[in-house]
Amino acid sequence: MTLRARLVLALLALALLPTAVFTAFTLVQLDRATAHWFRPGVDRALESALQTSKTALVRMEATVTARAEDWVAALPPAVLAPERRAAVREGLRASGLDFMQLYRRHGGRWERIDQVVPPGVIEARGVDLGPEIDAALAAGRVLHSPRGALAAATPLDSAHVLVAGMWVPPDFFADVARVSEGRSHYSRLGVMVDVQRPYTWLLVSGLMVALAALAVLLSAVLARPLTRPLSELAAALERVAGGDLTVRLRAHGARELRTLALAFNAMTGRLAAAREALKQAEREAAWREVARRVAHEIKNPLTTLRYALHRVQRRAALVPEPERQAVQQSLDAILLELENLATMAEQFSQYARLPEPRIVPLDLGEVARAAAALHEPGAVRLALGGEPLRVRGDRLLLSRAVHNLVINACEAGPEAPVEIRTRAEGALAVLEVLDRGPGLPPGLAERAFDPYVSTKDRGSGLGLSLVRDVARQHGGGVTLENREGGGACARLTLPLDLEDGREAGTG
Ligand SMILES: Nc1ncnc2c1ncn2[C@@H]1O[C@H](COP(=O)(O)OP(=O)(O)OP(=O)(O)O)[C@@H](O)[C@H]1O
Ligand SMILES: [Mg+2]
Repeated sequence: MTLRARLVLALLALALLPTAVFTAFTLVQLDRATAHWFRPGVDRALESALQTSKTALVRMEATVTARAEDWVAALPPAVLAPERRAAVREGLRASGLDFMQLYRRHGGRWERIDQVVPPGVIEARGVDLGPEIDAALAAGRVLHSPRGALAAATPLDSAHVLVAGMWVPPDFFADVARVSEGRSHYSRLGVMVDVQRPYTWLLVSGLMVALAALAVLLSAVLARPLTRPLSELAAALERVAGGDLTVRLRAHGARELRTLALAFNAMTGRLAAAREALKQAEREAAWREVARRVAHEIKNPLTTLRYALHRVQRRAALVPEPERQAVQQSLDAILLELENLATMAEQFSQYARLPEPRIVPLDLGEVARAAAALHEPGAVRLALGGEPLRVRGDRLLLSRAVHNLVINACEAGPEAPVEIRTRAEGALAVLEVLDRGPGLPPGLAERAFDPYVSTKDRGSGLGLSLVRDVARQHGGGVTLENREGGGACARLTLPLDLEDGREAGTG
């Protein structure tokens, strides 16, 4: 399993586990709570309360209707005569009614024209049931008035209606209706809870799945900056294993990952430099071998040639005039070229074997002065600091190196004097050879120090190569670059001899 997959799984578990436990707990608690609310006892109590109130109402309606019928048969459709009033009031009390009202149709409305109440009952003057009579007549004659009356409306003739009944509390009918409504609402709720329970579980499970998907997405996004630099590192390591040392990592992500990338880049950098140095050393070893063989192959025949030539020269005296002079001249020319060849062979063999250096403390300024002394007076200008520039090195090898730089400078710009400057720069001793020649030919800067690279007709191309070898032998380096204002500057740097305070040696 990849690191990224592992991270995603871990983050997912971290996000979902507490949520799942919490949700399951909540659902179980919810189930328990609903089971409490919908206990069968509550349902039965509500049902019997409803039945009781309904039965009482039906009985009251039956009583009111029956008594009203009786009174209709006994009374005329007119205002009651005063002499009968007392008897009717007593009759009302006996029949258990609270009032009796007589209405007459007048102008499309029922108008109250008389009211009788039993003794002890207060006469309710304001209660006019006229507006409710038509509805009662249409529906079984029973009248449920929100004004607080349960009555029966019975026609006496086409224009008169007798309304007889009892007073009830004004909210009586509304209360009965509310009990019925409450009961049906309660049972509906119970059914709904039963039906909705699986849906609730389904909804919660769906939510969990959605949450899991979201968590996977989020954790994938979060894991990315962690795993990407690591996969880049793995890929880069593979390339390094395949020999590609140019690969570099982009430093990004967490601090530790950035450090890792920088360390990796430094490592590949060092590896590349080491490989380059190795290649260079191999190339040089090969060149030295070539130089050694060439020098060897030339030197042996040269010696034979030289002896043979000397023998011929001795016999040249025997050649009769006038040819003698021409023969002598030709022999001299051959000898000159032979000497040139011998010098070249000597250079080759010098290049092939650099002698082991004899390291002593010395003043680099002294070396510069000695190199300048080999040239015409005024050809080399010296700019040496007052203090001796202490280094440790082989006087002969260092002189040869500086001499080579000065020869190059003189050859480059013969008309202007060459300048040698020395100075200390931090822990380094610096010696610069400056000229006002044409500067480096284009494209040569990188190759100038390679052996056999020369732009001169009679140049061997070994001068700078020797300078570099000597510099390296002494733990230093050499560069060659163009100067501002024309010309070139060769810079030789050597480590300053900081420990040794003695006078520069003379050996
Ligand atoms: N001061 C300089 N100005 C311009 N070009 C230079 C200078 N020094 C070196 N070069 C260039 O670098 C090349 C290599 O120099 P190097 O000293 O190795 O060989 P060379 O001078 O050509 O031959 P040799 O030193 O063996 O006689 C030169 O041929 C020349 O083109
Ligand atoms: Mg040279």
